Formats: sequence, C-alpha cells, structure tokens
Amino acid sequence: TRTDKGGHKHFMAKEIAEQPVVVAEAIRSYLPTGGDRVVLPDTDLDFSKLDRLTMVACGTAFYACLTAKYWFEQLARMPVEVDIASEFRYREPPITDRTLALFVSQSGETADTLAALRYCEGKADKIVSVVNVPESSIARESDVALPIHAGVEIGVASTKAFTCQLSVLLMLALKAAADRGTLDDDALADHAAALRGLPTLLNAALDQEEAIRKSAQRLSEARDVLFLGRGLMYPLALEGALKLKEISYIHAEGYASGELKHGPIALIDKHMPVVVMAPRDAVFDKTVSNMQEVMARKGKVILVSDDDGIADAKDGVWSTIRMPHAHGSVAPILYSVPAQLLAYHTAVAKGTDVDQPRNLAKSVTVE
Ligand code: AGP
Repeated sequence: TRTDKGGHKHFMAKEIAEQPVVVAEAIRSYLPTGGDRVVLPDTDLDFSKLDRLTMVACGTAFYACLTAKYWFEQLARMPVEVDIASEFRYREPPITDRTLALFVSQSGETADTLAALRYCEGKADKIVSVVNVPESSIARESDVALPIHAGVEIGVASTKAFTCQLSVLLMLALKAAADRGTLDDDALADHAAALRGLPTLLNAALDQEEAIRKSAQRLSEARDVLFLGRGLMYPLALEGALKLKEISYIHAEGYASGELKHGPIALIDKHMPVVVMAPRDAVFDKTVSNMQEVMARKGKVILVSDDDGIADAKDGVWSTIRMPHAHGSVAPILYSVPAQLLAYHTAVAKGTDVDQPRNLAKSVTVE
C-alpha cells in the first residue's frame, strides 16, 4: 500500500529514500520532456505583469519559501517578501493588485497559512498555492493550486515534501524568468538540464548514508548543534536545525555564516558540533573562513561539501560528508538529503520516536 514502510524502519526513512522518484515526478509534471520551458497547466499566470511576490508559510514550508526568495530575486529579478503565516496574518501588510500571493503547505490545512491566504483575497492579483494535498482547503481557496507530487507524507518531520516544494518553486522562478525575459534560452536550458539531472544526484547523496550515520552518531552526544550556511545554503541551515530539533530533541540553531561573529560565536567550544553546508560555489571561501573561526575556538565541524570543497577545506574538520558536484541553483535540493539523514540517524541513535515526535502534530490546524 501507499502507507506502509516499504521495508524501512520508519516512514521518515522511506520518505527520504523516495526523493529521487518523487522529485523526478514533480520535475516531469512542470518541465515537459523535449522542452526547456516550464509549463503550468490550466493557468494564464504571467509574471511580467507583476511587481512583486509575497510568499507565506510555516515551518519547513517557510524555509522552502526562504530558499525560493533567492531564486526569484536572482533568476527573475523579482522583489520578494517572505513571512511566516502567524506573523503575516496579524501584521496586516499592504498588498497591491500587482502582487502575486504565494502560499506553500504540505497539508494545505495549516490554520495560520489558510488565514494569511484569506487575508490576501481581494487584495492580491492572484492567489497561488504550492501544495501536496490537492483537495485541501488551501488548494481549494487558491486561484491556482500547483501540486508538488510528493505522495502521502506520514512522518511528522517533513522531508520529501520539502524537496518537492523546492523543485516546484525553482521551476516557478524559471517560469518567472522566462516571462520577464531575465534569462535567455541558453540559461533556461542550462537550468532545465540541472533539474533533470537532479534525481541522479539525489541517489548519489543517498549513497552517502553510511558516512552520514557515522557523523550522526557523534551528533547524538551533543547538547547543542549549530548549522551554518551562506546564500542558498542559509535557509537549508535553518531547515537542518529544525529537523534535528524536531526528532532528536537536541537544541539546534541555524545561522547565516556571516552572522556568526555577531553573537553565536560566543557559544563555540569543544562541546559544540557545527554542521557547515558549503558546496564549492561563489561564496565558498567566505563560508570556509567562518568555519575556520569555529575551529580556532575548538568547535567540531562537520563539513558537507563536494569533492573540490572537501579537498580545499578539510584540514582540521571533525568529519566530512561528500556530495556530488551540483549546478548552483539545485544545490539546496541536493543538500537537503544530508540535512535530513543527519537528523534521522541522530534520532535513531538516541532512540526517540522518529515518526511521531513528542508534542508535535503532522498538520497544525489550530492556532
Ligand atoms: C516540518 O518538519 C514540520 N513538522 C512543520 O514545520 C511543518 O512544515 C509546518 O507545520 C507546515 O505544515 P504544512 O506544510 O502542512 O503547512
């Protein structure tokens, strides 16, 4: 059935392992074979007619929005505002009729996100949602509901929904870039190829499970863990910390690497593991210098990077997790896998209830 563990110990493990397949499905649905243009079924959505994008969500879906902000700004040169639903709804932010309001929710039933959507009704040009459950309230109340094709997600800690949300949001940003003429055909083809190559890379990331499990064994002893990332890896640092908190009950925080000096560096000592998400991209050297500041204070670094990054920066780190080399825009989708597996194996090492963590509900339908 769709709802058994398929030979895995937990639903979360199964859902992590399913990602190459469901992400491929999400990509196929919006990027038809043989073309490089993103196609949204049944809508005349045109980003060239819009001035700005407002994205609202909670939890992991909020971190997907935060990642998408980088994509929409960089690829489509579109001003983007991102907010958590519980703040947005009571702040009564001004929304113009040239704003696209975008809501991201796995369940489509999160109370605050639904209330934020209703607030935007009659104000925004269009209400668009990115959802996993097509018959949900949020999907039904949107002008356009874009399914993420993740399939049923049972684990309370969201995994495959996150990578499918990211995939759909990246494709939406590429559609915006095409509509607004900010990327030429070659660049669009380049991104399409990167997306189509993603399932293979996700499989390669899953192949690193044993190395990740070993690092997790060490994390399970910690009281606090810091996650650092820069650029597209910053929202992922937040997501990695959330996953670890949710299922292992270890206190974790995600920080933008550049913010380290502005406070959290005071926490660093030999008891503090610091997970550094850093593909060898344009901001890699900056992140590495932050990482060295951590090591100079005896912090224990787990470096997640590609071959080039690990070759350049491995001196003095506690452990490394090797990712395949990836096109910059898809890197946060790929690096989600080690973030999820680190949390998963840390929780398993601690013996916590991975699929049903204490105090949490899969869908938060009350405020
Ligand atoms: C993720 O691991 C969480 N359990 C939680 O933050 C979740 O993402 C949030 O409640 C939003 O849910 P939704 O996507 O169903 O709206």
